[in-house]
Amino acid sequence: LQTRSNSYAFGIDNQGLVRHLYWGSRINAMEDFEMPELAEVSTNDPVYEITKEEFPVYGGLRYKEHCLKVTFADGTRDVAYEYVNYEIQKNEQCEELVIILKDKHYALVMELHYKIYEAYDLMERFVVLKNESTEVMQIEKLHSGQFHVPYEGLNFRNVHGHWGAEQQKFVQKVDYGKIIFENRRGISSHNHNPYFILDQDATETTGNVYFGALRMTGNFSGAVEQTQYGETLVQMGINTHDFTWDLKPGESFASPEILCGYSADGFQTMSHNLHQFANDFLLREGLRPVLYNSWEATGFDVTVQEQKKLAAKAKELGAELFVVDDGWFGQRHGIDNGLGDWYVNKEKFPNGIDELIDEVKAQGLLFGIWVEPEMVNPKAELYAKHPDWIYHFDTRESDTSREQYVLDLTKNEVKAFVLEMLDNLLSNHEIDYIKWDANRPISQTNLKKDLWYKHIQALYDIVKETKKKHPAVLFEACASGGGRIDYGILGIFDDFWTSDNTDAYDRLFIQDAYSYIYPIKAMRAWVTDCPNFLSNRVIPMKFRYHSAMMGTLGIGCNILKFTEEDIALSQEMIAQYKEIRPIIQEGTFYRLNHTSANDYFLYEYMKGNEGVLFAFLPQSKLGHRGVTVKLRGLEENASYELLMEDGKLTKSGSYLMKHGFDMRLTGDYASMLIRINKL
Ligand code: GLA
Repeated sequence: LQTRSNSYAFGIDNQGLVRHLYWGSRINAMEDFEMPELAEVSTNDPVYEITKEEFPVYGGLRYKEHCLKVTFADGTRDVAYEYVNYEIQKNEQCEELVIILKDKHYALVMELHYKIYEAYDLMERFVVLKNESTEVMQIEKLHSGQFHVPYEGLNFRNVHGHWGAEQQKFVQKVDYGKIIFENRRGISSHNHNPYFILDQDATETTGNVYFGALRMTGNFSGAVEQTQYGETLVQMGINTHDFTWDLKPGESFASPEILCGYSADGFQTMSHNLHQFANDFLLREGLRPVLYNSWEATGFDVTVQEQKKLAAKAKELGAELFVVDDGWFGQRHGIDNGLGDWYVNKEKFPNGIDELIDEVKAQGLLFGIWVEPEMVNPKAELYAKHPDWIYHFDTRESDTSREQYVLDLTKNEVKAFVLEMLDNLLSNHEIDYIKWDANRPISQTNLKKDLWYKHIQALYDIVKETKKKHPAVLFEACASGGGRIDYGILGIFDDFWTSDNTDAYDRLFIQDAYSYIYPIKAMRAWVTDCPNFLSNRVIPMKFRYHSAMMGTLGIGCNILKFTEEDIALSQEMIAQYKEIRPIIQEGTFYRLNHTSANDYFLYEYMKGNEGVLFAFLPQSKLGHRGVTVKLRGLEENASYELLMEDGKLTKSGSYLMKHGFDMRLTGDYASMLIRINKL
């Protein structure tokens, strides 16, 4: 399989095994590849353990992590595959190779799919199982594919975190033993994220980097294993935790895709390829609006008068979309009631929500609204009517979290209720934007062990179906902040709430880590009030704006309390953001290095002849002399003008990239935005 810069090779040997041969920089002479002889080291090191298999199954003398475990109707728990055939399909976006395998005894077909996105240097791998027998087969494990990285001592990178602290980078040396990264909560990403990066001490621009992102929002798991035979294995897929899938006669079941690639020159190429792919194929076209959201300003205390005032002020500042957050519906005065009762609260909106929507529209703004459709409060009317709609075991009391239960979306009537609720909301009101929240993990499920997977499929279906009827509506995914950001949900939703942590300094770390895998257009960032509700930190407004302008800009302040100075600065910043928005949201993003003893954060964006550089210095220390900034992505022989706040500079691309230019920020929470123009 050839992409622009890389090759991925495997073959079928004379025993019908699908054996991996190579993953790395492009080799044109594919005929040079040979299939090594299978040789056992000893009776305790069987060939299957040494052989690099693309899709190791549970069966025979295999003891390392497998990708598939099946129990057949007669109780046999051993898969033995043979190669049948292959197909090549040419789609508009990619070419696809399908390797067809079949169990030697049972009518189980295993299709290994490889989609090649040549220009992006990316590949998507997934597996489809087909039951062609007359009896049910129980799938106990399905991972989407095994990767073989021909090195030891690699670095495994992912993020850890929790509410308010998503996307915290970590590096773990891969050694003997396994690294398992997973989620068991039903939402994918507060604690870890469904992706792997394996590198050999890579930097932004140098070194071997192997990576893969699982297109799945629910319970995923991944395993990294350095074997005794000089290589590192990695695989990802559906978490086996509390999972079985009954594959009925005539049915098929597809694993989630792993979007994967290799970079011979560091993390930057990985990010660029993924960002470009997401922007071109997954995310909805068009620029994301500057939004105002009233959550941090009003909490649950939503009133029509105040919301109208906020909308007018948001317009004055330059916002384009006004979003009413939690608190507008049912008896929602705090976290303990209202979820499930999706009617407009009469006390807060005596004349209905249209009074506010009309005002928002009269201001020329788009209108957005918050919902949390997968949940119900025990006190809500919906729960009184349908206590059996929540996940539960009959003999157990279901736990509440944030005083709410999770609705069993795998039930047809519950899914239909959510679909109808959204359809009514969007048909009866002029709504342009839905912020879809999910504020707790799933527990006390139901009797079926496929619900973790099916819940997420139901969520995807509901949004896709609603979008068919209401194609102009943008959907934002939020799960107590950044609890649902992954390549499964990316594109089904259009906008992503990165974190409830809106501290502009903490956000630099969160956003930096986010940008490794996820595109900037999917990174919503707000400017909020100080002291910050979480950190109690006070940061100058300009720094807060610059930090939020790194993604899709939003404002979450109580803007009714703004001083004249705050208003003027906000107007200036928002206007500037709108000018540079195509560069930020659709440009190429660079995390720049520097050698200053001070902790500068430097981020560059380039689109065509224009660029932007954000420089942040949270704390000036030890009387430092500044920083030399080496730009990237310029044309060597072109001249560039850098427009700084305090003057301008004209230099060649090659000078700016190789020698760099000097700048100096001082004080605490200093920041600067520099425009880059090719002359
Ligand atoms: C979650 C979200 C917030 C806000 C509140 C409302 O915490 O992450 O942005 O919408 O719920 O209850």
